[in-house]
Amino acid sequence: NDDQFKKVVSHAKEYGYIFGSSEIYDGLSAVYDYAQNGVELKKNIRNYWWHSMVHMHQNIVGIDAAILMHPTTWKASGHVDAFNDPLIDNKDSKKRYRADVLIEDYAEKLNIKAQKEIAKAAKRFGDAFNEEEFVTTNPRVLRYREEQKTVLERMARSLEKEDLADVKALIEELGIADPDTGSKNWTEVRQFNLMFGTKLGASADTATDLYLRPETAQGIFVNFLNVQKTGRMKIPFGIAQTGKAFRNEIVARQFIFRMREFEQMEMQFFVRPGEEMKWYEHWKETRLNWHLSLGLGEENYRFHDHEKLAHYANAAADIEFNFPFGFKELEGIHSRTDFDLKAHEEHSGKKLQFFDHEINESYTPYVVETSIGLDRMFLAVLSTALQEETLEDGSTRTVLKIPSVLAPVKAAVFPLVKKDGLQEIAQEIIEELQWDFNVLYDEKDAVGRRYRRQDANGTPFCITVDHQTKEDQTVTIRHRDSMEQERVAISELSAKINKAVSY
Ligand code: GAP
Repeated sequence: NDDQFKKVVSHAKEYGYIFGSSEIYDGLSAVYDYAQNGVELKKNIRNYWWHSMVHMHQNIVGIDAAILMHPTTWKASGHVDAFNDPLIDNKDSKKRYRADVLIEDYAEKLNIKAQKEIAKAAKRFGDAFNEEEFVTTNPRVLRYREEQKTVLERMARSLEKEDLADVKALIEELGIADPDTGSKNWTEVRQFNLMFGTKLGASADTATDLYLRPETAQGIFVNFLNVQKTGRMKIPFGIAQTGKAFRNEIVARQFIFRMREFEQMEMQFFVRPGEEMKWYEHWKETRLNWHLSLGLGEENYRFHDHEKLAHYANAAADIEFNFPFGFKELEGIHSRTDFDLKAHEEHSGKKLQFFDHEINESYTPYVVETSIGLDRMFLAVLSTALQEETLEDGSTRTVLKIPSVLAPVKAAVFPLVKKDGLQEIAQEIIEELQWDFNVLYDEKDAVGRRYRRQDANGTPFCITVDHQTKEDQTVTIRHRDSMEQERVAISELSAKINKAVSY
């Protein structure tokens, strides 16, 4: 819900996870910087993905292609012609909106009206209220729901047919107003390409127009044969990559969910034509299991199978996550056929084929792709991890229950007091542990406050050095989630932490 979302955003800033980009100049919309804790969490998510996708699969290797690519790449991929959003301007306010989002927001309002009817009835009828029956029989609710469906279907149809005049007609018929000023004075709807352009070369007449890549996938397709040959890869095999992608998103809201500069983690799996559906199902399942392995809650994931397919796909599904603003796309699994490799063959004049010794045949492989937004995964982790707990004594604590394997700081080490040589012992422990883990030292305030600080920071272990340590070389280790404490020998600390934070 809205409240939880606001808390996540402010916690992210307060605890050094995410800052707005160039904040001293009032920021840049939909662009964010990862702060001292954020950069660690992001790196840990990336490594967790890389480890499971690349190191754990003998037939998957990684690359790191450049962000700038030959401009023909984007003609071949279809991005120059088809990577568009429908835009509309308001003539009075001079504000620009995505036409489909205006219509979707209107449909959402109808849904809210229906929800209100349901809530009212529940209040009126109390225990006797049967929601299922009410929703299927109440004429007002039925009308709102029907209207919502009609609106969305008509928009989807007109967008599919690229009938932008009809999208505009719909906005006018529904009487949709500028959300900020209420004006209904709209321009025509037109397509707006989402790619960021840039120039290669300094002099105006020789400079070449380039694009910042809108997806990392194309760097994999153009390197398909290089990797296959030098790695002596046999189909089926995969190429994985993580890296920045750029999209000039018009509607930039929901924090790091939709950014203009973001990071993708993609894997292209090359298969024999005709076997793509088998692999598509395989990767759907494998990727869902990857998510479940992090323990963010099975109920927070669901599949959304696409009925409407992109021009290159013959099957596609999203893994949706229950963000604070509802279930939204986190990852896409697409069966992309041979569309991309064939298009690059055509535009480059180079064959991108594989000779399959098993069947004695050459062919252009089919591709099954898994594509996840690193920033969205970050938001999924952060928003489920942030919890407010009421403790037995009635007090509350804010805790970030980030899975230990992803936590930015694995352990904080405290001297109980700033005397009697306890600080020195704590420092020695830090010096030992920092070879293997990101750890921090804290001696400020009472130990209880230091615990709370690390709870809010997401640190799974707090290690306290006290007077007993001097006698028996043991410390207390306090667990973030259970708040339980145990006595452990200093010599066992490393193994203990390692067990909890390794893959
Ligand atoms: N190569 C396929 C591809 O790029 P996509 O569905 O456009 O497919 C894949 O993007 C993933 O990238 C999405 O599921 C989402 O997690 C992430 N993503 C896309 N646009 C984004 C944006 N503007 N900000 C943050 N993440 C984004």
